[in-house]
Parts: sequence; structure tokens; C-alpha cells
Amino acid sequence: MARASFQKIKLLKKKNIGIVAITAYDASFARYFDELGFDIILIGDSLGEVIKGQKNTHNVSLENMIYHSQSVRRAVKNSYLISDLPRESSLNKLTAYKHAKKILNECRVNMIKIECNKKNIDVVEHLVKNKIPICCHLGLTPQLISQKNSFRKYGKSPKEFSSIIKIAQTIQEIGVKMILIECVTDLLAKELRKIINVPIIGIGSGKSCDGQILVSYDILGISYNSIPKIVEKKYFKIKDFESRVKKYIYNTKNFL
Ligand code: KIV
Repeated sequence: MARASFQKIKLLKKKNIGIVAITAYDASFARYFDELGFDIILIGDSLGEVIKGQKNTHNVSLENMIYHSQSVRRAVKNSYLISDLPRESSLNKLTAYKHAKKILNECRVNMIKIECNKKNIDVVEHLVKNKIPICCHLGLTPQLISQKNSFRKYGKSPKEFSSIIKIAQTIQEIGVKMILIECVTDLLAKELRKIINVPIIGIGSGKSCDGQILVSYDILGISYNSIPKIVEKKYFKIKDFESRVKKYIYNTKNFL
């Protein structure tokens, strides 16, 4: 089983050392990232797009998540492993709990990530109460949106800014262990880091988070769908993949 511990993630936060995270979906990449020293590997439901060639993450199944999480688990010794709860699993409390437990048991990952807005806080609460270690994904939540124009920065209007703050405070009180913020404004990310005690991992949310995450295929510069604008193009200028990845690790670890 995993040597990864959440204590290490908390220690990195305490010491202001950037927590560096990446997605993986198969054993070969997972081993490569583990050996490079990534703190966290996420088996993301982005696999719907980059692996299955679908236009969004909506049709990723529990079976897909289990298959890919098991492949990654086999290869990883040190990195902390998080699996996404797919959209079909998050619809109600009971299904969410049953599916989260199945992923934890069958894939031996360390944590479950769930996309969260004000409508499904009760699901998050049910999972935490039943001892599922949870990372909540806030801001741009691809499972919960259907329109293209929802792919934007979150927290620009005062109403949205305070709504996301309120959700973050509520889920922190509930007892989630980690928060991932996607595509929120720099200002909102800074404010969240001030008032939230659990580690905050960002994607497209500026430099002030406790850590960063990227979809591995985006750093490779290849993707079935278009690469989101939020991906920092500076990594593309570097020619080989390993240098891109190392530059990303270096930047995240050293420039908080
Ligand atoms: O599924 C995924 O890859 C994600 C990203 C935000 C990292 O959730």
C-alpha cells in the first residue's frame, strides 16, 4: 500500500513549499511521475477527454475510474493518490458514498475528489461524516456545467466571489481535507488561502495557492480536445517533455 501520507502534504503547506500535482491515467506515466517526486497524482475524470476522446467529462463511468485508478495504483510507491468521483456517482448521497467507498477499497487510493457547488454540499457532508477523505473541487467544475461559456474565470463578480468563499468555509467546517480551485481569479485564490486552513491546490488560479496541478497531456502539448487557455504556455517553449515537467516542478516548489 501507499507510503504517501497526508502529513507530508500538510507539512509542505506549513513550510510554504509548493505542493506539486499532476494527472495520470496509466501505469507507465504514473511510475514516471512518481519517480520524479510528484507529491500528488490525480486520476482525473479528464480521462473522458484525453483518453476516451469525448467532448467533456460527463460520461466517465465508475468502471472507467476504477480501471484507471487501479492501473495508476500498481505503479505508484510514494505520491499521494487522489481519484475523481465521476459525475454519475455524485448525483445523490447514497450513490456517492457507495461509489467512493468502492474506489477507495478496490484501488487503494488515498483520497476522493468531488466537484462541488452550493447544490451538492449535502453530498460532501454525507461523505465526510462517513469517513471518506475528501478533496472538494470549486470554481470551474466541468461535471456540473453544460454550456461552453461556463469555461471562464470564476469570482469576478462580488456575488460569485462571496459565494465561493462561503462554500469553501462551509466545506472546511464539514471537514474536507483539501480544496482544488479551478479557474478562479488571483484575488479570490489569495483570499481563500488567507481564510482556509486545508491545502489549496490551484489550476489556472494564479500563483498564490499552496500547490498547482496540471493535466499531464496539456504539458505534453497534445490533447484530443483543445488545450485550455489556462495552461501556461511557457512550458511549451521547452523542447523535451522531461524538461517541461521538471520546470513545472521547480516553479511550483519555489515560487509560492
Ligand atoms: O479531472 C481532472 O483532470 C481535473 C483537473 C482540474 C486537474 O480535475
